[in-house]
Formats: sequence, C-alpha cells, structure tokens
Amino acid sequence: MRTLSELLAESKIFADREVLSPHYVPEKLQFREKEINNIERSIAPALKGMKGRNLFIYGKTGTGKTSCTRYVIEEVSKMPNTRARISYINCRIYNSRFRVLNKIISDHIPTYAKRGYGAVDLYEKLTSWIEEDSKILVAVLDEIDMVKDLDDLVYTLTRINSDIKAGGVSIIGISNKVSFKEELDPRSLSALYENELVFSPYNANELYAILKDRAARGFKPNTISDEVLRFIAASSAKAGGDARFSLTVLSKAGELSEEKDISTINIEEVQDSLKIAESEIVYELIATLPEHQKLLLYSLSLLSSSGGTYKKLIDGTDTYLFSGEVYSRYKSLSESLHKECKSERWYRKYLSELEMQGLIISYESGTGIRGHTKLIKLLYPPKKIQSVLEKELFGEDSKTPNPEKGGESAAANSD
Ligand SMILES: Nc1ncnc2c1ncn2[C@@H]1O[C@H](COP(=O)(O)OP(=O)(O)OP(=O)(O)O)[C@@H](O)[C@H]1O
Ligand SMILES: [Mg+2]
Repeated sequence: MRTLSELLAESKIFADREVLSPHYVPEKLQFREKEINNIERSIAPALKGMKGRNLFIYGKTGTGKTSCTRYVIEEVSKMPNTRARISYINCRIYNSRFRVLNKIISDHIPTYAKRGYGAVDLYEKLTSWIEEDSKILVAVLDEIDMVKDLDDLVYTLTRINSDIKAGGVSIIGISNKVSFKEELDPRSLSALYENELVFSPYNANELYAILKDRAARGFKPNTISDEVLRFIAASSAKAGGDARFSLTVLSKAGELSEEKDISTINIEEVQDSLKIAESEIVYELIATLPEHQKLLLYSLSLLSSSGGTYKKLIDGTDTYLFSGEVYSRYKSLSESLHKECKSERWYRKYLSELEMQGLIISYESGTGIRGHTKLIKLLYPPKKIQSVLEKELFGEDSKTPNPEKGGESAAANSD
C-alpha cells in the first residue's frame, strides 16, 4: 500500500496514463489504412448529399473497429458540409430501437429529445427533420448485436428511405460476434450487408509497433525495453491478436512496477500483468454472453467442479466431459429455470461459440471411448466461472433462487 503523499508524487513510470487507456483513440492508427479508407468511402456519398450503401464491419475484439470508425467520424466532422449528419451509437448502452432513435434525435434535435415522446413521434420527427433540407443521416451502430429488437430497428431505419421524398439514411453496423449473421432475419441481413469489411487480428510485429508507439508516449523514457515490448506483443498475438488486450497488459505492468516502486517494467511484471488481464477479460466476456450460452457454460462449470456424478477422462492432468452429459445437464438446468431448452443443433452451435471465445476446448474422441463422441474441457477455473455466472443468471443477491444450490449435486458449493 502506498501512502497518499507517495501516490501524489510524480510517477517514475508514467508520463501520460491517458495514452495507455483502452478508451484512448490515437491520432495515428497503424496498419489500418485500407480499412479506414473503406469506411471513408462508405461515408463519402453522404458528404456529397447522397445516400451511400450500408456497411457492415466485422472482426474479433480489439482489432480496431471502434477506433478506426471513430477516427473517420472525427475527420469527417471537421469538414465543412451541410447535408451529412452522423450519429455514433454504442448499442451496449442504447440497446433497443427506441433508445437508438432517441439517441439520434438527441444528437441532432436536442430540444425535441427528453420530452417523453413515443417511438412513433420520434420516427415522424426524424423523417421530417431529414426531409426538410435533404439531409443524409449516417447511423453508426457499434456493437449492433446488443440491440434487443434489432430486426425492428433495421426495418425502421431502412423504412425511412422509402417514406421520405428527399435525403436518406445509411447504416454502419459493427460487431465482433461470430454467429451474429445467422441470427438475423433475412431482410435485416440483406439490408445491413450491402458492403462488408472484415478486420483481421494483428500479428506479433504489428502489435509490437502499436505498443512501441503507445509506450513512447505513455511512459517515461527508459522504463521499458524492446525485448519486454516484444514479449507482450508475442503473448497477445498468441491470445488472438487483440490490441486492447496488449495495451491493458502494458499499462497494468506499469502499475505493478509503480507499486513496487521500481523505475523499470520487466518481464516479471509483464507475466503477472498477463495473468491479471487474462482473467479480467475472460470474466467480462462471460458476463456479456447470450443467455443460453451462459446456461451452457454454467452447466459445464457445475459438472467440472462436482467431480462425482460425471464420467471424466483423465489425460495427464486434464479433465474432459462428455458432450452428451453436458447437454443433459444444460437441459435440466434450463427446465429448472423455466427457460426453453434449445435443440441439440443449437447446443452444438453454442459449443463452437464458446470454443471460438477461448472458454472451452473440445475434440472428437475417435472410436473406442463410448463409440464416437465429443469431449469438452473448460479452460478456466470452474469456481470462478460459477461465481461470475451466478451474479449474471440469478442476480447480485440471488433474488431468483438458484436451483443448483442445495440440489442433487450441490456442485457450486463442493470443492
Ligand atoms: N491500428 C491500431 N493502432 C493503434 N492502436 C490501436 C490500433 N487498433 C487498435 N488499437 C487500440 O486497441 C484498443 C482496442 O481497439 P478498438 O476498441 O478499436 O477495438 P474493437 O475492434 O472495437 O474491439 P471490440 O470488438 O471489443 O469492440 C484501443 O485502445 C485502440 O486504441
Ligand atoms: Mg469496439
């Protein structure tokens, strides 16, 4: 613990903490020229008073989708133009059609917002505002998969184009969810995917360059060596090429050095920081999973920690579960919570989603073990996963009773 005067003393490590924060948008986004240009091309028609084609941006977490889009919006907002109006909407917050419409209105017609109008009023206000001088509205919907009534939202926004005599609306949707496309209504799908732009993960060299640039501005001189930066870059590339992750590791390592009151960031601090960052990211990710994937993961963690009722397969120190028993556990859990249990087809899809997110690993058993079956292993400590999911599924103070607690296995309480 550092004293207040120590906390207030000038840092030996940080020159500018803000530069290392995950919310910071750097002036220069390296390795994304092509992507930035692509986004510019989709906004350009609006600047000329024409409705462009909708654009869908997809890519893994931390690949720069939000940063690049915000960068273009910033550039565009500096340009003198009369027709284009851009709204950037974080759908994690504005997660329904009503909230999105309200956000657009409050961005551009603040006097009209906050008066308790209904969706129809908002729609009419928006169309007349667009029409009055042929505006082109560009709605940028970041984390679009978070919108609960997305088909309605897409329908409403595209409907504006056929209801107005002048002006137009175009949509830029952004998502990192792999299965998003498949869950959409075909009509929304064809509306959103007029153009698609994919952000690929960064490799170790790219991450190194990004880190180097940020470290040079965020830290005092000579606090971190190239070797240490390369180590972070390589670890992050292995973890999926996520720039946010690598920056989090970098700044946390700085904090650890600061706590130790040393003036350099070494491999040791980075290794500790990696561990902290990994688990934080995983638990945040778990909290944002769709409900049935949460239920499935919860079933997996119960089975993994119960030790008694399931058949396990020891492979060195690893414990695997049989796919069939996981499904039946998921089924009974859904039933006890009065949730409709999804079919096995969905179950397999959820499994592959969880595997894509790096939460589980699975492989085909080959012949010999129970004929041919899938074996599944949880990649994180089951207890930790359970505690995160219990908060999510049963509420902070468990207002909804947890049917698994005190049940046949009492797995959540056993060790
Ligand atoms: N090319 C780049 N150059 C410099 N910094 C970058 C670059 N790409 C990403 N970053 C940094 O990485 C972090 C994450 O980027 P961003 O938020 O844009 O990712 P994202 O693709 O939107 O992720 P998510 O899908 O989780 O929303 C930000 O702090 C950003 O500054
Ligand atoms: Mg983003």
